[in-house]
Amino acid sequence: MAINIRLLSDRDDRSRFSSGNVELDRFFRQYAGQNQFRHHIGSTYVAANDDSGEILGFITVAPAHIDELPKDLRRKLPLYPLPVLRLARLAVSETRQGQGLGKALLRFVFELALKLSSEYGCIGVLVDAKKDAEPFYHQYGFYRLEVTQGRSGARPFGTSLFLPIDTIRQAAKKK
Ligand SMILES: CC(C)(COP(=O)(O)OP(=O)(O)OC[C@H]1O[C@@H](n2cnc3c(N)ncnc32)[C@H](O)[C@@H]1OP(=O)(O)O)[C@@H](O)C(=O)NCCC(=O)NCCS
Repeated sequence: MAINIRLLSDRDDRSRFSSGNVELDRFFRQYAGQNQFRHHIGSTYVAANDDSGEILGFITVAPAHIDELPKDLRRKLPLYPLPVLRLARLAVSETRQGQGLGKALLRFVFELALKLSSEYGCIGVLVDAKKDAEPFYHQYGFYRLEVTQGRSGARPFGTSLFLPIDTIRQAAKKK
């Protein structure tokens, strides 16, 4: 079975996707489309079965900025808000978890961040991580951040994690 990671299309059937996380599934079914096609506030990429079109996983990303980097990460960076790529959501279908798809989707996010860094500016990837999924990110060297600004009270947040673009670039070179 060939799996392809590509932008969500308005022809994709999102209604049957189930990761086991109610909030993520509701977002994907109800909001991912309008956020991308109508409001342009974030883009969703899907891992889909090339033959059947079945959606096996997704990520939602959006440009963001960060102004609270810890001192050791900020180093010589200026003190104004700095551009990052925000991984707002990541989920893999319950039937496909534990088979490397989450890792493939995260690698895809890293490639997007590298492209963004060379074309528009991006100092790293910021993740809103769910508590249970935090260990999944730590294996890549993400740092925990205390983010106090720019959050809406509209939905619960997990932990903010940050991976600098240099770490992503070095890992990409080793491949
Ligand atoms: C978390 C999630 C995205 C991981 O995707 P996945 O396809 O199951 O993960 P993978 O098979 O690619 O696993 C990659 C590695 O991460 C590890 N891993 C996966 N989930 C993990 C977790 N929750 N905690 C710690 N490690 C985890 C795997 O053991 C694997 O390690 P390895 O490379 O040493 O073998 C997926 O389980 C999921 O969608 N869960 C429900 C929704 C959710 O929690 N999303 C995250 C929101 S921040």
